[in-house]
Amino acid sequence: MTSQKSVALVTGANKGIGFEICRQLGKLGFTVILSARNSELGKVAADQLVGEGIDARFVKLDMEDAAGFEPVRKYIEDEFGKLDVLVNNAGFAIDWEYKADTVPMDLIRKTYEGNFFGLIDLTQRLLPLILRSEQGRIVNQSSGLGSLTLHSLPDSPLGDVKPFAYNSSKTALNAFTVHLADALRHTPVKVNSTHPGEVKTDANPNATMTIEEGAKTAVRMATLPADGPTGGFFHLGNTLPW
Ligand SMILES: NC(=O)c1ccc[n+]([C@@H]2O[C@H](COP(=O)([O-])OP(=O)(O)OC[C@H]3O[C@@H](n4cnc5c(N)ncnc54)[C@H](OP(=O)(O)O)[C@@H]3O)[C@@H](O)[C@H]2O)c1
Repeated sequence: MTSQKSVALVTGANKGIGFEICRQLGKLGFTVILSARNSELGKVAADQLVGEGIDARFVKLDMEDAAGFEPVRKYIEDEFGKLDVLVNNAGFAIDWEYKADTVPMDLIRKTYEGNFFGLIDLTQRLLPLILRSEQGRIVNQSSGLGSLTLHSLPDSPLGDVKPFAYNSSKTALNAFTVHLADALRHTPVKVNSTHPGEVKTDANPNATMTIEEGAKTAVRMATLPADGPTGGFFHLGNTLPW
């Protein structure tokens, strides 16, 4: 049986921007599948949304553990028969004190496993369910730090923020966005990258943008109309350079 309601899966959603994306999509009427790698934290987060009147479910997803992907795919197929929105929000940076000349290989590999390889694997597995939706939307939570154009400017607005593993994992994610959007161009599915802004979360405690504002770009791209863009990179209403 296919769910009448729109269904969204958000990764890395026990806190921060991902949690708020769940809340905003839930308030728009979506059934939200809130995923987290820590089951206790994920269940508490989903319960909080249920307490706010949102149809929220919890599933465990560790982006570095592909063994957990198939049970989630099966749960969504059995429970809803389709997936309308996938927000690939989970992400992390663990190489702030390094640049490209010194960053250890194990940090690059770990970053790519979570921010890139796991994300592609999960997306490919869920794609048959997303193609069953009349308005499938895939949102890849990237970062302005993934923009090669901005890094290359002589007076780059990104300054000296050069953790190579994190930045390049987001550049690679942007490449996935462009290629996946092309592969799906004859379908209703839209695939876009987003930059949430410099948002005050555990990952960026000195930032000033609120989490509510930070969730807006992903929510906007998750709810694009049929004539909306695909294969782009966005922050609020603006297009960002690759
Ligand atoms: N905040 C910003 O200024 C900013 C700017 C540009 C881009 N972003 C991007 O926005 C996204 C959300 O970041 P945030 O600021 O909300 O950070 P956050 O508060 O640290 O939240 C990150 C979320 O990702 C989860 N996560 C990390 N590694 C994971 C893994 N291996 N598997 C599953 N979940 C994992 C975290 O789970 P745990 O709680 O278990 O660690 C947490 O739920 C990230 O992709 C980040 O790169 C943020």
